Amino acid sequence: MARVHSLKYILSFTCSIALNLFLVSMFIRNRCQQNWTQEAMAEAEAVSSISCSGHGKAFLDGLLLHGKPVCECNMCYGGSDCSQLQPDCMVDADSGDPTFLEPFWVKNAASSAIVIAGWHRMSYEYSDGSLISEELKAHIRNVHASVGNAITDGKYIIFGAGATHLLNAAVHALSSKASSSPTKVVASTPYYPVYKEQTEFFNSEDYKFNGDTSMWNNDTSNSTFIELVTSPNNPDGHMKKAVLQGQFVKRIHDLAYYWPHFTPIVAPADEDLMIFTLSKLTGHAGSRFGWAIINDEAVYKRMLTYMDLSTYGVSRETQLRVMKLLKVVLSGNGREMYEFGHNTMKNRWSKLSKVLSQSKRFSTQKLKPQHCSFSQQIRTPSSAFAWLKCETSILEDRSCYEVLKEVNITGREGSLFGADNRYVRLSLVRSEDDFDLLLRQINKLVSVEINDKHVATTSTILRQSNETTLLLTAGVNVVNRTLDLRMELETLNSNIFPRQNGLYTTIDLSFN
Ligand SMILES: Cc1ncc(COP(=O)(O)O)c(C=O)c1O
Repeated sequence: MARVHSLKYILSFTCSIALNLFLVSMFIRNRCQQNWTQEAMAEAEAVSSISCSGHGKAFLDGLLLHGKPVCECNMCYGGSDCSQLQPDCMVDADSGDPTFLEPFWVKNAASSAIVIAGWHRMSYEYSDGSLISEELKAHIRNVHASVGNAITDGKYIIFGAGATHLLNAAVHALSSKASSSPTKVVASTPYYPVYKEQTEFFNSEDYKFNGDTSMWNNDTSNSTFIELVTSPNNPDGHMKKAVLQGQFVKRIHDLAYYWPHFTPIVAPADEDLMIFTLSKLTGHAGSRFGWAIINDEAVYKRMLTYMDLSTYGVSRETQLRVMKLLKVVLSGNGREMYEFGHNTMKNRWSKLSKVLSQSKRFSTQKLKPQHCSFSQQIRTPSSAFAWLKCETSILEDRSCYEVLKEVNITGREGSLFGADNRYVRLSLVRSEDDFDLLLRQINKLVSVEINDKHVATTSTILRQSNETTLLLTAGVNVVNRTLDLRMELETLNSNIFPRQNGLYTTIDLSFN
């Protein structure tokens, strides 16, 4: 009997050990499976902890030094940790790289991060055979509904590798094959240069770029037109309206900047073909993602064919990332990103306008405040670009672009926008560092003008006084002693003005 008991005991003990071993192995297997993100997470955290002094960033796919990613510094900053500001460096205000939103995404790093498994959507198509994530499409409709900037109900949506890709798809889809002459692609000056560059580059038999819309306003030839309407406009931020009318006119509404960061939302746009881009909504220009909202099924199908044959859709990794970003945009009260964007742009405009208000040589576009249905406030547009005009007095025989280049600012020449060389476009959507450097250079430019004005005024007063020599008395609070300086009127120049804190002080002039 005792033997039977002990056998039973051994059996149940062995079973219990086997069961425990099985459970432990299952637990370990599960943990291993659950933790496949750990390595990726550690890598991402390690790179984000590299300090670049607030003037740069290290990236996982950046250059490596001793196996570690190195800092990629903002313009004009250098050194291994980007802490050195390079003197006399050229300030780039040319490209509309919208990195002004980067601080928002740094703050929202946790909610906007994604992990992409090695096996994620390897197929050419989604399981429904399409190239478009239906879920992402739904998010896009929600974003428009929450901002109130476009009607999407009952309309088709198509994705592209940025608005750049969609613009040509739209021109292709709208150009007429039936007409004996190529469809004329036109835009009102000043227009976004890519319209002309892209149309000319593709050199199609079906369409040709034909310049400024106003040249075709009274056309009676029954030509077919595609008018590109950009609102707010790049470069000047104006809410442009279509100019050409009639049955032979088709339109592409480029609404890249119709977001609360840049302009009051006056009403939901409800056009036949509207193009938007992630670059100007969330600032993720590098993700190369845009979308078109289309009324007409035939146009939608032609654009779809273009997309199929040019790229076979937008990268699935991009679509996943965009969806995550839009979730953040829509989260909370769905306003946080827009408030950040609007406040940043408003501050930049207020600083720039303050400096330029002292100038008679340089001015920017004037945009009227309007009621914004999104914020329920009257808001002045805070355009992505300053469309700077140089007065002829400063130009002599140079272009405005050259005038700025002389003070180390690179803008984009007015002539590229179909405008004249008195204009230059300055980008205000770049990083805080870039904007600060731009403002510093503009300040210098205006200080020179203020100084020139003082010299001119002083010279005039002296000429009117008919003196050939003068005695200069500097106020005691300026240099604490009296200057008894006799000099020829003709040699009077800026050197007589002592500099204080970078500004020129006025000297009392008294004659004896
Ligand atoms: C008016 C306008 N349309 C389209 C684009 C192109 O945008 P994306 O970055 O999506 O190609 C830009 C970019 O600056 C733009 O200013």
